[in-house]
Amino acid sequence: MTTEVQPVIKLTRGVPPAEALPCALVKDCCARALAQHGEVLLQYHPATGFTPLRELLAEEAGVSADSLLVGNGSIQLLFFLAQGMLSPGDVVAVERPTYDRAVTAFRTLGLEVVGVAMENDGPDPAALEDVVRRHSPRLLYTVPDFQNPTGITTSLPKREAIADIVRRADMVLVEDIPYRRLRYAGEDVPPYRELLPRQVVQLSSFSKLLAPGLRVGWALAWPEVVRDMAKLAEDAYITPGMLAQGVVYEFVRRGHLADNLHTLRNLYKPRLEAMLKALDEHLPRGRWISPQGGFFVGLTLPCGADAARVAEVGRKQHGLVLSDSSGFFPDGDPSRFVRLPFCALDEEEIEVAVARLARAVDEAMEDGR
Ligand SMILES: Cc1ncc(COP(=O)(O)O)c(C=O)c1O
Repeated sequence: MTTEVQPVIKLTRGVPPAEALPCALVKDCCARALAQHGEVLLQYHPATGFTPLRELLAEEAGVSADSLLVGNGSIQLLFFLAQGMLSPGDVVAVERPTYDRAVTAFRTLGLEVVGVAMENDGPDPAALEDVVRRHSPRLLYTVPDFQNPTGITTSLPKREAIADIVRRADMVLVEDIPYRRLRYAGEDVPPYRELLPRQVVQLSSFSKLLAPGLRVGWALAWPEVVRDMAKLAEDAYITPGMLAQGVVYEFVRRGHLADNLHTLRNLYKPRLEAMLKALDEHLPRGRWISPQGGFFVGLTLPCGADAARVAEVGRKQHGLVLSDSSGFFPDGDPSRFVRLPFCALDEEEIEVAVARLARAVDEAMEDGR
């Protein structure tokens, strides 16, 4: 008898699948960008980014171009922002769980990272009050739309309560919104920037809207902060990847972004539905929030299951690779949390992956008894 080797399924990184990358259009836009702006795009340039793209993004946001910076991906812009605004030893408040690379960026800068517990509709304001009272954080980092890693969108009442605390504490709030335009159901919730314009820095990115390999992200702040970030960016890389910014500019200007978002929503919505259906079927004892967009569903394992053990059983026995949950927790207990990214797998793979996950959970729980 031959045993069939099952292909390994990776339920790890939140990356777009190959079929979501518009190679032919990007090729066209590249040729067009070089024909129109070649001498600028192939030369050194101020670190604020390609001026036509900067102006276009600023116009869309209703701000002047000096309030906006375009750089090599939003995670590096978060790094420059924190580097310019904070000093080693300062405290940053983040959601718990939160985007792991943000925690890494803050810690690399010698900052202390303190978690604020997440509830089903965003961070708990009472927990933030407590963190403010005990740690006096200078900055709150939040991912309010389809959060990485939980998929949670912060409700308007929560945003108002959080904005009020940030206003009183005279902190800066950074809202990181790379998934905001990937909504598959429901209505947009107003961004923090509308609730608290003078204390909010907004970060976003073309990584999930177009292609992560282009490395084009942007920050919307106020002019002094943009100037400081541009100086740090110049010291780090002199000039951002200009050709990529020219490509993005042509992509947006020619109307491809709107079409691409439509394509992505149609591709990802059934994947999210497949993930939720598979969880209902295979893991009814788990808990999760049904997201209305983005890339992730955050799963809370049944009582008695341990995420690290489940990951080990999944990898060794079932050909399933999971993320290390501890990276999403700056503090607190990661042991019952599993991040499930659904965009990079098709519906069939999602069903198989969740069935394997459920078996790994059962076996890990039996081992633990
Ligand atoms: C919340 C969040 N911010 C930032 C990023 C990274 O964006 P970029 O590729 O623009 O650096 C990601 C990528 O997964 C993310 O989930």
